[in-house]
Amino acid sequence: MNTDLLQMVDAGGCSAKLSPRQLDEILKYLPLPDDPNILVDIDTHDDAGVYRVNDDLALVFTTDFFPPVCSDPYEFGQIAAANSISDVYAMGGDPVVALNLMMFPASKLPIEVFAEILKGGSDMAAEAGLRIIGGHTIDDFPPKYGLAVVGYVHPQKIITNAGARPGDSLILTKPLGTGIILAGQKLGLSSAEDVSAAKSIMKQLNRSGADIMRKNNIKGATDITGYGLAGHALKMARASHVTINLNMKEVPLIGNTYRLADEGCIPGASFRNLDFGEPDTFFGDKMDYNLKMIAFDAQTSGGLLICVPSGAEKKIVSELRNAGLASSSIIGYVTEFNKQYLHLNDA
Ligand code: CO
Ligand code: CO
Ligand code: CO
Repeated sequence: MNTDLLQMVDAGGCSAKLSPRQLDEILKYLPLPDDPNILVDIDTHDDAGVYRVNDDLALVFTTDFFPPVCSDPYEFGQIAAANSISDVYAMGGDPVVALNLMMFPASKLPIEVFAEILKGGSDMAAEAGLRIIGGHTIDDFPPKYGLAVVGYVHPQKIITNAGARPGDSLILTKPLGTGIILAGQKLGLSSAEDVSAAKSIMKQLNRSGADIMRKNNIKGATDITGYGLAGHALKMARASHVTINLNMKEVPLIGNTYRLADEGCIPGASFRNLDFGEPDTFFGDKMDYNLKMIAFDAQTSGGLLICVPSGAEKKIVSELRNAGLASSSIIGYVTEFNKQYLHLNDA
């Protein structure tokens, strides 16, 4: 029996999301409940919903699940869990309890594979101090796994997509390239070192980044997942009514990401993200094509994009690096809205 999970999917991880354009279309039909205790809803396309319980406590709700991003079931479980928890961290919250969401083809795979996925998820949850207290299983192919997570946040300390302010610097805490390296792996073009680097990055919790954001009273952030750096930056710019300027030359990349993009390892999700973002993006003169596609590359369990008041950026970058987020870099800045929400440059 073939138990290589990666061979079972066309698009794994966050690149299996619906396109942002399709999502916008669908969300038009979703009526938004009206309740003063709803502090964050889908109106700002934020990472998670936030509901106020009392003056000192709000709940952060989020869920993510997806098909395999790697061959090994234990690692798939770890990555899927780290990715699901990330949206709580992106809002400045503390993950508290979670449910497993499991779609598993019982007739096509041995039950041990299923157990390994759950073990990976439960170990990652333990690392985050998160308690998995239940779940739900459906027989389905290819397998999919993730969590529905509830976190705590103080109602005055929520970090949102709508918190970017003109003058802020933008810090990215993890390098880009997971989508391109995984596409390259399926074509046999990615090196074992690149695949292993991509997996370590996807398994890294955004916990230390969230701790540093809270300590520094950050107001605006998001995590970089299926819509790519440019797609998530665009959602943040729209929610904040500002323009986000990104310099792709400053963006750290995993291993041979640039060369793989140059060799054509660009997954379909990146083109769908570009198609969504292009009308709202100003591209710098003679923008390098590969860097443009890397900007829109769908990431799985990517880093935080943090808005930092100017003057504090160097201190916060060094705090992030010291906390193990070694690639943390200043990659752009926020201005008043200027014709397009996103300005993408490479110079
Ligand atoms: Co998110
Ligand atoms: Co999410
Ligand atoms: Co957010």
